[in-house]
Amino acid sequence: MTDKRVLLVGLACLDIVSVHDHYPIEDTDSRSIKQLFNRGGNAGNTSVVASQLGGPVEYLGTIASHVFSEIIKKDFQQYNVKFENCRFHENCETPTSCVIINATNGTRTICHGNNSLPELSVDDFSKLNLSKYSWIHFEGRNITSVLEMITIIENFNLNSTDHIRISIELEKPKAKDIDKLLPLGHVVFISKDYAMGRGYTTSESALSGLNGKLRSGALLICAWGDKGAWGRNADGAIFHAPAFSPEKVVDTLGAGDTFNGGVIWALNQGQDLSEALNIGCEIAGRKCGIYGFSGVADKINCLK
Ligand code: FRU
Repeated sequence: MTDKRVLLVGLACLDIVSVHDHYPIEDTDSRSIKQLFNRGGNAGNTSVVASQLGGPVEYLGTIASHVFSEIIKKDFQQYNVKFENCRFHENCETPTSCVIINATNGTRTICHGNNSLPELSVDDFSKLNLSKYSWIHFEGRNITSVLEMITIIENFNLNSTDHIRISIELEKPKAKDIDKLLPLGHVVFISKDYAMGRGYTTSESALSGLNGKLRSGALLICAWGDKGAWGRNADGAIFHAPAFSPEKVVDTLGAGDTFNGGVIWALNQGQDLSEALNIGCEIAGRKCGIYGFSGVADKINCLK
């Protein structure tokens, strides 16, 4: 439909994943079924999912000139995710998560750390040629700088006939200043955690309650685990897509990022909110049935 790129801005890190047949007891020494050294990070995960669905995709963030980053770069290359505009930093380490997956129910327990890699700066972002992009998505982190990055896109949109759509993910309710992002996206993803952190007990009540805080015409989307996902369009209509259950849930790491990738891809292709929610739920469910993201877009029924 368009040869313009979808750009995903946020974290790419190393995920050291230990898959166990049960969740280990504290201060014991157990053996994993398998260990994986994968590229992770919300924006990184969303990038490889969107790229597997098709069309040009780029990741933007900071990458340490460090041995672990080879895994990140190789993975992006494998999935044809461009990353040439990333800011590479010398003398610092790759942010890393140690993740335990319980293979019995697929839960993922994440311990994340960043010793020294700086966040993307406004200056790094301002070097982009914005005419190359149809869609720019921001993870809800590095918020002071992201607010300025969005202003740069708004100014570009004012002076261009080809508007860039902005989407934003609000995942962590305690992230400082995260609410400032709510009115800025054309499409806003809120997590179940974020909704519950703001006092909502269902996805639908969060969509109605937060609606007044959005920019006019924006879509608000909230996935709710195995209940599926809900979305509210600009006219106030609410759509629901059921969760997709794989044969067996083995790995839920990055399922939310996968949902976002499916929805962004579908909306960018011109599909409507209801179709996009269905694609998001199906691809997220299929992801839970496999380890990692390889081949996640291969069997999507909604696309047939
Ligand atoms: C999953 C994920 C992991 C990463 C962690 C960072 O959503 O992006 O890949 O380790 O979250 O918070």
